[in-house]
Amino acid sequence: MQITIPKERREHEKRVSATPDTVKKFVSLGFNVVVEKGAGVQSQITDVQYEAAGASIATTSKAAYLAADIILKVQHPLMKNEGIIDELSLIKDGAILISILDPLRNSKHLKIYASKNISAFAMEFMPRITRAQSMDVLSSQSNLSGYSAVIDAASEFSRAFPMMMTAAGTIAPAKVMIMGVGVAGLQAIATAKRLGAVVSATDVRSAAAEQVESLGGKFIMVDTDEDGETAAGYAKEMSEDYKLRQAALISETLKKQDIAITTALIPGRPAPVLITDDMVFSMKSGSVIVDLAVEAGGNCSLSKPGETIVSDNGVIIIGNLNMPSRLAADASALYAKNLLNFIMPHVSKKGAELSIDWEDEIIIGTLLTKGGAIVNDRLKGKS
Ligand code: NAI
Repeated sequence: MQITIPKERREHEKRVSATPDTVKKFVSLGFNVVVEKGAGVQSQITDVQYEAAGASIATTSKAAYLAADIILKVQHPLMKNEGIIDELSLIKDGAILISILDPLRNSKHLKIYASKNISAFAMEFMPRITRAQSMDVLSSQSNLSGYSAVIDAASEFSRAFPMMMTAAGTIAPAKVMIMGVGVAGLQAIATAKRLGAVVSATDVRSAAAEQVESLGGKFIMVDTDEDGETAAGYAKEMSEDYKLRQAALISETLKKQDIAITTALIPGRPAPVLITDDMVFSMKSGSVIVDLAVEAGGNCSLSKPGETIVSDNGVIIIGNLNMPSRLAADASALYAKNLLNFIMPHVSKKGAELSIDWEDEIIIGTLLTKGGAIVNDRLKGKS
């Protein structure tokens, strides 16, 4: 079977779906690996490194996709009128596509996967079970986003993070507040602490309190009996009463902060607005907000996708897109390993091909289309 690693062409995407290490592993299992020319360049991987790992280099997209049985991508393939090439039309009928597919927002793509009899797997639908942790792309990528958010904030902040006692006077430590303490938020807390900031954090899931405190942060939460966590461990949309009380709590806390990093997401829904215009206007000039939820609508009412703006009262609001891609070399290495870990259990005993266990919980959770139909429970009614 041939595994193809195409070059990513969507805007702001620098990652690649395989590294020389994962290519070497696929080759040792008997797969024929084809990498599209220049696929790894933006992740600091050269074609020569892929060749040394046993891959062959395809000089055009057409050649890369032509005989591909398994396509490993980072972002869902471009379709007609979305970019300079129609990647979807190059995928052969019956192929296996493994990628972050954003299926809830791309029903047109889903229909084409089905019509081409493609078995499409969405890595972001990975069930959050222990066995799947090493395949969890949301975790591997969010962790880097959380780190990057703090570095972005520090680079825009006109003060230092740590307390410094010098002969010329004492510099107070920066006060950092993290809103939403999932994977990204926890890494943001750890990074801000390492830089010497005083860190507080909030979440609707009370389970987050212990994690925040174990990292040396102060947990702040609305005093309520309302449970903010679903059975799957994610946040849910809170009641209007909760939202009002949370707004009052954030408003009171935010005034005293130098940096706010927001990561709050609710699966399948727009991100909750946690920082309103008025709250921004209550902050000190020179404060920085990094909105990691900007692509899902934003946690800050003033953030703009892909832009850094300064509010009328001097608050810097960063809305960078595709945060993991800003650390493309590390993000690609972790993502590629997630894909390898996902595929490995389904490599046939004699190697060189897949023998997928279609009843496996991980396969059922991630499989979107098979045999010409949309088969995933989370997509019922989306076609
Ligand atoms: P996420 O990216 O979906 O959301 C980020 C955070 O925002 C979450 O902590 C969420 O509770 C919080 N949030 C949502 N609405 C909010 C609001 N209105 N106010 C304040 N905070 C709000 O979360 P992520 O990083 O995907 O983690 C979700 C859960 O999954 C966590 O419990 C995490 O520990 C767990 N997890 C489990 C894994 C496994 O077992 N394999 C792997 C990774 C995460």
